[in-house]
Order: sequence, then structure tokens, then C-alpha cells
Amino acid sequence: MDKITVPSLLARKGSGVKITALTAYDAPFARLVDQSGIDIVLVGDTVGVVVQGGESTLPVTMAQMCYHTKIVARAVRRALVVGDMPFLSYQVSVAAAIRNAGRLLKAGAAAVKLEGGVRMIDRIEALVRADIPVMAHIGLMPQSIHRMGGYRVQGRDDPGALLADATRVAATGAFCLVLEGIPMDQAATITASVPIPTIGIGAGPHCDGQVLVLHDLLGLSIHRPRFARQYVDVAHLASEAFARFKSDVESGRFPAEDETYR
Ligand code: KIV
Repeated sequence: MDKITVPSLLARKGSGVKITALTAYDAPFARLVDQSGIDIVLVGDTVGVVVQGGESTLPVTMAQMCYHTKIVARAVRRALVVGDMPFLSYQVSVAAAIRNAGRLLKAGAAAVKLEGGVRMIDRIEALVRADIPVMAHIGLMPQSIHRMGGYRVQGRDDPGALLADATRVAATGAFCLVLEGIPMDQAATITASVPIPTIGIGAGPHCDGQVLVLHDLLGLSIHRPRFARQYVDVAHLASEAFARFKSDVESGRFPAEDETYR
């Protein structure tokens, strides 16, 4: 399978072949995701919730994102690695956005993701001018949790606003657009209107692709949103293995002869 690049993803628009994306935060899972043929490995700032056990993504730092991007990129051969820009790494200034996005590319990402549409247009423009490919993210933006008053579906009050955001972001040169937590009809309209691929999460089936948080899919997250399908119960499998190990040690069945040196 050919390496996924920014141009090859852009070329998928209108091809009818859906784009698949999953988050990953460490080398073992990044390798498995990549070997499964998933197109995009997103090193998401959801690391702050599903790995660090926090309440929101707000405390995640650039140093943490660089660390996770580096260990993920090391394990990925084919997929496009996208590094997520954490809270306050791009909101403060255009210069900070370029500097911090550059750090994610130096850590191994091929592109960065940031939250925001029209309000972040000068950041997107500057990054694109610096040859840093940008995946934009509109709708439910977890870094705006306090403004939104919780993780709520967005765009119901002002349906035109999201389309305006999407149109502007695409015209500014973002190569891809995440649509999170928006009504499916709006996602369908946006997908039909913009020339770049849309990747949905809680945005219905009409996007050009879908992304899930790895731990939701695996059954490892504490709060799984309604829109996230769990494909396997790894928590159950792991708990069973831990219980068997405990019982084997306590009963003397582990280690066995062939697990012991003489
Ligand atoms: O940080 C993340 O994992 C994300 C996905 C939910 C799209 O932004």
C-alpha cells in the first residue's frame, strides 16, 4: 500500500473511497493502527483525557504533544501522522502557532490539527504559507468547552455559520477538515460544498471519512460519547488476563519450567 501523503488525501475527495482515521498516543497502538491500513493516525490532545485521565484536553502541553507525536511517528510507516496543537499553543499569536506547529513537524508529524474556523484563519494562512499542512477542526471543539458550556452538538442555532467556517478554512489552504458533533445534514452540505475532505466524528455518515478516538473503539475510555462505536471490549479482556496472572502466581502455576532459567 502506498504511503499516505497530504496530496494523496486531497486526491481522495470525490473518489468515493472513504478516509479512515484513528487517534494513537504510543508506539504499540500506532503500529497496529498503521498495519491495519488506517489512513490517518491523529496524535490527539484527547491524550489528556483517555491516557492521562483528565477531565478535559485543556491541561495538555506542547511538550507532551511533541513526546507522543515522536513515539507515534517512530512506529508508523504508511499512514499520515497528524499532530494536534494543544490549548494555548496557537491561540496566543501567529508566531506562536508557527513555532509550535514546527515543533510537531520536527517530532515526526506530517501535518498539524487546530480547532477553529474563521476565528483562526490568520493562523491557518500563516501555517500554510510556512508549508505546514493544516487539518482544521470545527463544530464541537473540546478546547472551547467553557464557552460551549459542555460537550454539546454545535450549529443548530446558526446553520450558516459552520458552512461559512468550512468554506473559509478550505479557501485558506487547509487540506482537510474535521467536523465534530454537528447535525448530519449540515455535515452533508459542508462535505458537498468544500473541495477538501471532511472527516466526521459525531457528524453522520455523509462525510468523506470518519475518525474515532482509539480508546472509545477499544472499550478503554471511561466516558464514551453516544456517537463513538465500541468495536471490542479490551478492558474486559485485559481484566481477565490480569486475574489469570494473579491466580497463576498465587497458586504457583506461574512461572512454569519453560519460563525459568537453570
Ligand atoms: O484530539 C482528538 O483526539 C481529536 C479527535 C476527537 C478528532 O480532536
